[in-house]
Amino acid sequence: MNITLDTLRKLKAGGDKFACLTAYDAAFAHAVSTAGVEVILVGDSLGMVLQGRDSTLPVTVEDMVYHTRCVARGNQGALIMADLPFGSYSSPEQTLENSAALMRAGAHLVKLEGGSWLCDSVQLLARNGIPACVHLGLTPQSVNVFGGFKVQGRNQDAARAMVEDGQRLDQAGAALLLLECVPSTLAREFTQAVSAPVIGIGAGGDTDGQVLVLHDMLGVTPGRRPRFVKNFMEGQSSIENAIKAYSEAVKSSQFPAEEHQFTS
Ligand code: KIV
Ligand code: NA
Repeated sequence: MNITLDTLRKLKAGGDKFACLTAYDAAFAHAVSTAGVEVILVGDSLGMVLQGRDSTLPVTVEDMVYHTRCVARGNQGALIMADLPFGSYSSPEQTLENSAALMRAGAHLVKLEGGSWLCDSVQLLARNGIPACVHLGLTPQSVNVFGGFKVQGRNQDAARAMVEDGQRLDQAGAALLLLECVPSTLAREFTQAVSAPVIGIGAGGDTDGQVLVLHDMLGVTPGRRPRFVKNFMEGQSSIENAIKAYSEAVKSSQFPAEEHQFTS
């Protein structure tokens, strides 16, 4: 059965968790969708993971369209979310045009990074049949504004502003919200304050869904691995089993554990 936004809303309403993983090609899209993962994210993390860049900034709309097409061909019923890359959603009109390209490539919704200033774009997308997920907290396309990949929302004012942004975006019709690298207590408050399902990465165990970068959870990303990542290949004999173990760990709230979370 195909996963839709309605599936995720029902899971949230029932207090059940759902899993999301990135994939960038047909073979992994097949593996991820047949392992019971509800959402495939064609993330602009492909700039770092596949292209070897040191940030996501060089990724283009053409790159995202190409990988979204590849994923759509291998997908077996998961919900496909595709990232709008850096500089591709600076006005509502530009957002609509580039989102339409991702939807034509096979995405079921798009993701963009930012705050409540995206409300007009989210509304315009919805009016044109395009559901949107807004990514808050550590938004990697703004790494140069933050001065590094740092935990966000650690002080009270920033935490309150993030929850208020989430509520405005929720009211503007955001289909999903995603929180990256924020204290678990903030993620819990945020998730309770909005009606849209919330996906977390480095945001503790109380969001409705969890996401990881595929290469990180398979242990093939070179270099230091961030605190919130767990290598699910450890103790498994196949990639398929590692992905299943991740999906089951999310649904049984075994992942993320205390050691994968940030405190305020
Ligand atoms: O691009 C990506 O993989 C992402 C996730 C880290 C949320 O945006
Ligand atoms: Na991304």
